[in-house]
Amino acid sequence: MQGKYRALWLNENGDLEVIDQRYLPHENKVRVLKSGSDATEAIKDMTVRGAGVIGNVAAMGIYLLAREFGDDKKRISQEAHKIRSSRPTAVNLMWAVDRMLDVIEKSDNVLVDAKAEAILICDEDVERSKKIGHLGCEIIEKIMKKNNLKKINILTHCNAGWLAIIDDGTALAPIYEAQRRGIDVHVWVDETRPRNQGANLTSWELLNANIDHTIIADNTGGHLMQHEMVDMVITGADRVTACGDVANKIGTYLKALAAKDNDVPFYVALPLSTFDFESCDGVQEIAIEMRSEDEIHIMRGLDSDGNSQEIRITPKGTKGANYGFDVTPARLITGLITESGVVGANKNAIERLR
Ligand code: MRU
Repeated sequence: MQGKYRALWLNENGDLEVIDQRYLPHENKVRVLKSGSDATEAIKDMTVRGAGVIGNVAAMGIYLLAREFGDDKKRISQEAHKIRSSRPTAVNLMWAVDRMLDVIEKSDNVLVDAKAEAILICDEDVERSKKIGHLGCEIIEKIMKKNNLKKINILTHCNAGWLAIIDDGTALAPIYEAQRRGIDVHVWVDETRPRNQGANLTSWELLNANIDHTIIADNTGGHLMQHEMVDMVITGADRVTACGDVANKIGTYLKALAAKDNDVPFYVALPLSTFDFESCDGVQEIAIEMRSEDEIHIMRGLDSDGNSQEIRITPKGTKGANYGFDVTPARLITGLITESGVVGANKNAIERLR
């Protein structure tokens, strides 16, 4: 499966097709997006998710706006702001919209240039992902050599594979590369409540790629680390500040704390487009998405007849608070794996990447 499919592509009519991630792992459906507002809706309702792919769909959404509004740059820019504000935390979304609008502003042929730029953004992500995979795999090899390991156990949180950034992901890219190099790897997959991106998406990716993995309840990582069952942690990121603080899926911070306490290397893999160079103190400055409390109360899965069902797991009337992300302070991070190199999570090292 991996390597043959992308999370999004343009069809022969110039419409955008995306894998509808809301139905995985039980159904593999494709949704067609024909307009800018379709792109906004798909980002908002989690048809597509993951920082990189959100940015790609946003870029393609601007191209779809150019198809709708032709040379009316003012209208495109007005509509683009709806896409730009469709989710608040992953900065790739804002980065992609701004880059597209910049190209459109300078263009004499809006439709042609918008389409070319959106395709370029996606193609660049493929290259970024590949480089992150190579650099991250070198770290895997070093840790194995240092600890004399025949097999490496890597813990990951949420989904940062090819469903989140084309074509190999960020956190999973070093793991896919390790498999290509014949390295024996096992992945501990945090289920990642409440939306279960680990249980639903990461496990699906790894299963299809024939990579040994085990799903664990979110609270298990600390216990595994105490018993030396985790050799390293790799996560993705939704926004990283100029000082190295990392916003990623809720629960990442707790894994970083446990990793620090147990001397387990904690790496974050990200493309440069995930840096927010305007911010420094992530806890104070990064907007954390609040999501519907239904995601806490209601779970979706297959019943014993194989039919898709939603069930409520909390008493009716109990309140839920659904924080989508948290911030891991730079001091807990061993290194940032980017397409331009592996650097420390600190201002000086990050500044050199710009
Ligand atoms: O709410 P989601 O599913 O969009 O959150 C995704 C994550 O937190 C990923 O770990 C992150 O986007 C990094 S992958 C490029």
